Amino acid sequence: MILEKYLSKKGQYLENNVDLSASTIAWGLKAKTRAKESSDFINATTGTATEDDGRLMVLPTLYDELRQLTGDQLFAYANMRGLHTFVQAWKKDTLESYPTELRKKTEDLSTLPITACGGLTGGLMLAGQIFFDKGDTLLAPNTRWGNVDNVFFKNQQLKEIPYKLVDQEGNLSLSNLSDKLIECQKTEKKIGVYLNFPNNPSGISPTLDQIKELQETLEKITVPTVLFLDDAYENYCYEDDVVNHSIFPYLVGLNDNVVAVKIDGVSKRYCAYGARLGTMTVGFGSERDEEEKVQVRELMAKAARTNTSSAPRGIQEALTNVLTDERKKEQIKKEKLRNLNILSRRYKLIKKLGEEITSEVLKPVKFNSGFFGYYLIKNQQTATEISTKLLEKGLGTIPFVNTVNDLNGIRVAFCSISEENIPKAFDILYSIS
Ligand SMILES: Cc1ncc(COP(=O)(O)O)c(C=O)c1O
Repeated sequence: MILEKYLSKKGQYLENNVDLSASTIAWGLKAKTRAKESSDFINATTGTATEDDGRLMVLPTLYDELRQLTGDQLFAYANMRGLHTFVQAWKKDTLESYPTELRKKTEDLSTLPITACGGLTGGLMLAGQIFFDKGDTLLAPNTRWGNVDNVFFKNQQLKEIPYKLVDQEGNLSLSNLSDKLIECQKTEKKIGVYLNFPNNPSGISPTLDQIKELQETLEKITVPTVLFLDDAYENYCYEDDVVNHSIFPYLVGLNDNVVAVKIDGVSKRYCAYGARLGTMTVGFGSERDEEEKVQVRELMAKAARTNTSSAPRGIQEALTNVLTDERKKEQIKKEKLRNLNILSRRYKLIKKLGEEITSEVLKPVKFNSGFFGYYLIKNQQTATEISTKLLEKGLGTIPFVNTVNDLNGIRVAFCSISEENIPKAFDILYSIS
């Protein structure tokens, strides 16, 4: 590195440790190259939802609104905390995604959201900085998005304690997290937990009973514990028995030692990945008065002010216009439902195919939500070897390996392959030996 002598310790650490591809981009590029060489190639590496013809799924109502913004609306600075109209509209939108009986309680127990520049990634980074120092403990699941390692373990240099979210049978379980929490509180002064449902890469979300088990543990926690809820894929659920909204309402009001930070954004919720707008909402263990909530929000604004500053304005203006106009709100709801139905059809098809035959090599986990299917490898091969073979056979996938937790599997992004291509993709997948 030519800048070696100029680098800070942090700069050197980033240079030596961060995987810019977060284990995914490099495989995406390999798949794109193959797709250029052969029109039959199926690229199931991309974690954005696309139409059956390959174009990005966008929400026309939001797109129209963005096109009509004035120069001021697009280019003026936004408030550090987010446009007030936007954060109000976002809060309402989020609360409306919960069952009616959970709304008031959740509102009473949490702050107004605050915007984060840089999408959910920006929110995770800021939230991490507010609560933890280098060397502090973060419990992270065996199935997780690669950039979680970059943000929390490589940039912030937190200490990882892994928990098993998905077992070798492909089932979701929160028991290991509960065990680890109880164990950790004996030695740690403060604990962080990263939770992500629907999960990337496993496509798994919990049932209400599973959440209740976690609630029972959290009620017993005696050291300050911060839960980071990465809600990137919230509401993309395809089965009746899973909780089809953020689990945030179930994690507030449990215990004064537990704070939950909900991190969400427009990336997947409004199919606006490049808009780079995230939000953070803090939830408490018991009711707080307005002044205390404002103080917490101001702290988050201080973190934003000293890092990435205010978030992009145009998307906040456009989405506010949509969410505060009844007709446009109804329209965008329909557009979201249409997209969900397309993903749901692909999900059902790939699940059905997986139930009809068994493979010597692959075992599908019990995915039920999100953008991905995840397949564990039953024999001695590594996920990387399998993804390499699949690439040769005409299917792009992403290997996800976590050696600490014996996790070895590949991710198939049904969000970005057409329904028509799913049987073919599945045939390639299950032809692997
Ligand atoms: C689980 C998860 N969290 C966060 C993100 C990042 O979201 P954003 O693009 O808004 O930074 C992703 C993106 O793929 C993700 O899969």
